[in-house]
Amino acid sequence: MTIAIVVHGGAGNIAQERVESGMAGCRAAALVGMEILKRGGSALDAVEAAVRALEDNPHFNAGTGSCLTSEGNIEMDAGIMEGHTLQVGAVANIQRLKNPIALARKVLESPHVMLVARGAEEFAHENGFAFCAFEELLTERQKMNWMRAQGKLAAEPEDVEEKKHGTVGAVAVDSEGHLAAATSTGGIVNKRPGRVGDSPLVGCGFYADEHAAISCTGYGEDFIRLMIARRAADFVASGLPAQQAAEAAIAVLGARATGTGGLIVVDREGNVGYHWNTPLMMYAALQEA
Ligand code: GLY
Repeated sequence: MTIAIVVHGGAGNIAQERVESGMAGCRAAALVGMEILKRGGSALDAVEAAVRALEDNPHFNAGTGSCLTSEGNIEMDAGIMEGHTLQVGAVANIQRLKNPIALARKVLESPHVMLVARGAEEFAHENGFAFCAFEELLTERQKMNWMRAQGKLAAEPEDVEEKKHGTVGAVAVDSEGHLAAATSTGGIVNKRPGRVGDSPLVGCGFYADEHAAISCTGYGEDFIRLMIARRAADFVASGLPAQQAAEAAIAVLGARATGTGGLIVVDREGNVGYHWNTPLMMYAALQEA
């Protein structure tokens, strides 16, 4: 049985000096997940650990390093799903928490699918999650991005925000052929407070079933309108190889909406796929027979 993990660190117009460190961050996160798979751990544990590593890396727009809302706040979203049980956990509009994906995992283990705002915060407290100061999540780079978006600093060529998507995610298949997907994000720079994108919405920014696991990055509104993650899973279920399924789902995104972004796929045989319609997507893939 082939075990495999794919992670992404976002897609878009990524400044050249950030590409190398972004790719290195993706490789490091994929290795964290692969170590779990190699020890016989579950795909669910592997994708959670990989996404936590990406959330802890200030390079990415998730957890530490999340972008700011128009009010200068940080509101994060995350979702996780296990394919063979169809168990889902998601949280939206989470503040002052370093690892929203860990809270989403806790929701997955509860009778619920999604928690938001005050209820999610209470659930986090009840389950022993420690909240941090806003400043611990804030990076200089995101402060600058926000100031440019607010017109307080001159824009840079790669600062076309609709073409910069820093969401992170992971998909994996374990030694039992079980699949899982996880996605986490700070959202879109200068977003309206309360705006929720595709990342915590099952079937839109992530999905896993018995055939495939998918995580997306991109302009969330279009991924929601077209339920891109579920479409990619259905393409695999209908017999398309993982790579062709990734390409077909992104083709739907381009044909039916003006949205930009990318996605990663793994199937139960450990075949991987990735595709994007932006200049670049940061990702890493590891497989072991
Ligand atoms: N894809 C992340 C978002 O739109 O919030």
